[in-house]
Amino acid sequence: MTALLSRLLPASPPPSADPGALLAVDHLDLAYGQSRAVRNVSLRVAPGQVVCVVGRNGAGKTTLLKGIIGSLGPRAGRILFEGRDLTGSPPYQRARAGIGYVPQGRGIFPHLSVYENLLIGLEPVRGRLDGQLEQVFTLFPVLKEMARRTAGVLSGGQQQQLAIGRALMGRPRLLLLDEPTEGIQPSIVQQIEEVIAGLKGSLAVLLVEQFLDFALAIGDYCYVLESGQVTFEGTPGSLDTAALRSALAV
Ligand SMILES: Nc1ncnc2c1ncn2[C@@H]1O[C@H](COP(=O)(O)OP(=O)(O)OP(=O)(O)O)[C@@H](O)[C@H]1O
Ligand SMILES: [Mg+2]
Repeated sequence: MTALLSRLLPASPPPSADPGALLAVDHLDLAYGQSRAVRNVSLRVAPGQVVCVVGRNGAGKTTLLKGIIGSLGPRAGRILFEGRDLTGSPPYQRARAGIGYVPQGRGIFPHLSVYENLLIGLEPVRGRLDGQLEQVFTLFPVLKEMARRTAGVLSGGQQQQLAIGRALMGRPRLLLLDEPTEGIQPSIVQQIEEVIAGLKGSLAVLLVEQFLDFALAIGDYCYVLESGQVTFEGTPGSLDTAALRSALAV
């Protein structure tokens, strides 16, 4: 799996001004009108790491990812990727820089075929198809079986696999995943956990989750977001899981 995934990725990422951080988010503030949804958030993702952001409904997790991909401009703070300041860049430039995104709810195009949905993922590499399709089909064989079917007929778990596969078509160095376990059956959760575990080391992942056990099982480092602010952070082993569970309880 790791060998396969390493072929999905560029041979050697360009040098970073800050070799410790692939992604650096510094003092980020994001708002909808007067409503501040993300407050003074700083986080780091090192190359090859899986970093989790956990928080209950409305904590600001999706808003944080929108700030990182650039669909929501910041009130304050900055975003560096491989040492480059992307704070003012539009989303397509961030995607081309190597940031892949799997949105909450998957964002697949239900009236297009599975194959066509995957091809849409080629935009960041300017349409260059260089073995990604075969690699995605090896990771997610069901997508090959269903390639000609309309994506809207796929189950929730299959659509999640399609959304991840589509993001991998653009050969990202950082993959942002927004609640990949939401509304899917346990066997597929386990399969997605295995895929993310296989990505670890060759591709960095920033995973947003409400499902704490999944985040703790898979993450190298976790941030807890409450009302738009980071209230805890640390390695899964160092975090007080009882306190976390109560912070995440509705
Ligand atoms: N488009 C929007 N316009 C105004 N307020 C919004 C918008 N999107 C989100 N919000 C508000 O911003 C806050 C953070 O929302 P966000 O969607 O980032 O939370 P979340 O942690 O992703 O929640 P969930 O787990 O339900 O996906 C919430 O109070 C939400 O109501
Ligand atoms: Mg969300």
